[in-house]
Amino acid sequence: MSEEKAKLSGPDLTKGIELSTIPDGTMMLGHARGEPVLLVRHGKELFAIGAICTHYGAPLEQGLLVRDTVRCPWHHACFNLRTGEALRAPALDPVSRWRVEEIHDLARQLTPVEQRVGTVYVREKLESVTRRSHSLAAGTPESVIIVGGGAAGNAAAETLRHEGYSGRVIMLSADESMPCDRPNLSKGYLAGTASDESNLLRPEKFYREHEIDLHLGARVAAIDVGSGQVKLADDSRHDYGALLLATGAEPVRIEVPGSDLPHVRYLRTLADSRALVSKALASRRAVVIGASFIGLEVAASLRARNIDVHVVGPETIPMEKVLGPEVGSFIRRLHEEHGVTFHLGTTATSIDERSVMLKNGEKLQADLVVVGIGVRPATSLAERAGLAVDRGVTVDEYLETSVPGVFAAGDIARWPDRLTGERIRVEHFVVAERQGQTAARNMLGRQEIFDAVPFFWTEQYDLGIAYVGHAERWDKAEIDGQLEAQDSTITYRRNGKKLAVATIHRDLDGLRAEVEFERAMTKNNTSIQTVQGSASTNARAETATGGS
Ligand SMILES: Cc1cc2nc3c(=O)[nH]c(=O)nc-3n(C[C@H](O)[C@H](O)[C@H](O)COP(=O)(O)OP(=O)(O)OC[C@H]3O[C@@H](n4cnc5c(N)ncnc54)[C@H](O)[C@@H]3O)c2cc1C
Ligand code: FES
Repeated sequence: MSEEKAKLSGPDLTKGIELSTIPDGTMMLGHARGEPVLLVRHGKELFAIGAICTHYGAPLEQGLLVRDTVRCPWHHACFNLRTGEALRAPALDPVSRWRVEEIHDLARQLTPVEQRVGTVYVREKLESVTRRSHSLAAGTPESVIIVGGGAAGNAAAETLRHEGYSGRVIMLSADESMPCDRPNLSKGYLAGTASDESNLLRPEKFYREHEIDLHLGARVAAIDVGSGQVKLADDSRHDYGALLLATGAEPVRIEVPGSDLPHVRYLRTLADSRALVSKALASRRAVVIGASFIGLEVAASLRARNIDVHVVGPETIPMEKVLGPEVGSFIRRLHEEHGVTFHLGTTATSIDERSVMLKNGEKLQADLVVVGIGVRPATSLAERAGLAVDRGVTVDEYLETSVPGVFAAGDIARWPDRLTGERIRVEHFVVAERQGQTAARNMLGRQEIFDAVPFFWTEQYDLGIAYVGHAERWDKAEIDGQLEAQDSTITYRRNGKKLAVATIHRDLDGLRAEVEFERAMTKNNTSIQTVQGSASTNARAETATGGS
């Protein structure tokens, strides 16, 4: 949604607002020259910025003020109140910013007629910050190669330019499509509520204008870290000064008779989603194999197209491992209310043109089968290049791998999480983007620790769940509020320690939990194991323990 199209509410801020009506630490929604504007008071300072998040258009007045930033209620993007800059993904573009004038003394004003003392006026729009203008550190690489054109790779390329990097940026993507908004593929686009255009993170001209050399259908076959060169499947070669690996993950394939039939589909790429949409248009009955996030989002989207949906999974309660039995059972009921039939505690044993056979003896009719049984990080390239790999590419807190000058981000990266003190790897869109941003700055010598709290979201029908933190294992889930009313906060703990918080339509609780985790991380003096064999990691260990 653009700011221009948004409905206007609240006062016209160009006509003035009594300062006393905006207490310190609060924001007021209004408008200026036909655009929604947020007026914010932070101590003695006043700011005015565009009120609509540039990601999916959330109302920022429902977000959280944290110092001189505002965080978006939906997917936790963060905007600088001073510059409008999007400091954290998933928003990639700034919000507009406006000049604010506070009238202290009429005598000093040129046009006192229309002004009142103690009143704040929003004046003209100011220029957005699209590129930072600080000097780059010595030793900045002459060129950067990014392997992967997904969330992390795209964010890294944009960040390099945003930070003022003028060297060559080459993005090599095995994908035939431009970097896309993967979460949309199983939600709005598959459900038929979002357009094909909404799938792209950026239009083609963006890469041209920012001199990002994007190669599609370019699969990297090998990396020679000794000579600083990547070799493509077509045998062409590129030299790099610094390298980012952001190869993401690949869907786990089902190995049963009939699994290679053309109506058996996976969902990872834009091409997968387009093919699924066109198949869905001609299908009446679908079997979804896998009852986790992707499987359930697909189920909900296919129901929106009025397709009969059966979900098969080995677990007895969907998503129990991640969200707990109560939330999992609630999600199951929600799907059943929308007409989905579950076949749990069983697996598919064979597939033919018309049906899926289950281990429990059931035979399900299907003209479409969608498999969503998990993904594996695409680490083979890193392994062959000799990088340290342990269920993901091992990186240090700066996202640098065991080879100096080679970074990794996104679904493939296993990094030292400051909150838990453990090395973790997640498959979250926002984390991938934020890691791409941090890795880009570190390739420019910024030495920024990656310490963002993991965040993901899911949408199924009108249910939205946001999850902050990381609880791979937990022993207690405390539910506050009513699941059925879709108004709830669930806190996951292990040995009493709060590890993660899931919220259902309680956006502020999720944002507050994120801030609480950040504060805990700052206090956390967990000693973080350094990457074996990384000389650069050891050299920076002091900065890490004494850092942010
Ligand atoms: C359908 C779907 C829905 C999702 N929904 C959500 C959600 O709601 N919320 C959430 O938090 N997360 C969601 N995710 C997960 C999220 O999209 C991923 O965590 C994120 O995309 C990971 O980003 P990435 O850059 O690491 O990898 P990707 O985005 O997968 O990009 C990897 C890139 O690397 C390229 N590549 C791989 N190997 C090579 C090679 N050898 N040479 C060149 N290029 C190569 C690929 O072609 C691709 O361009 C969803 C994922 C899917 C598939
Ligand atoms: S709408 Fe603001 S982060 Fe998604």
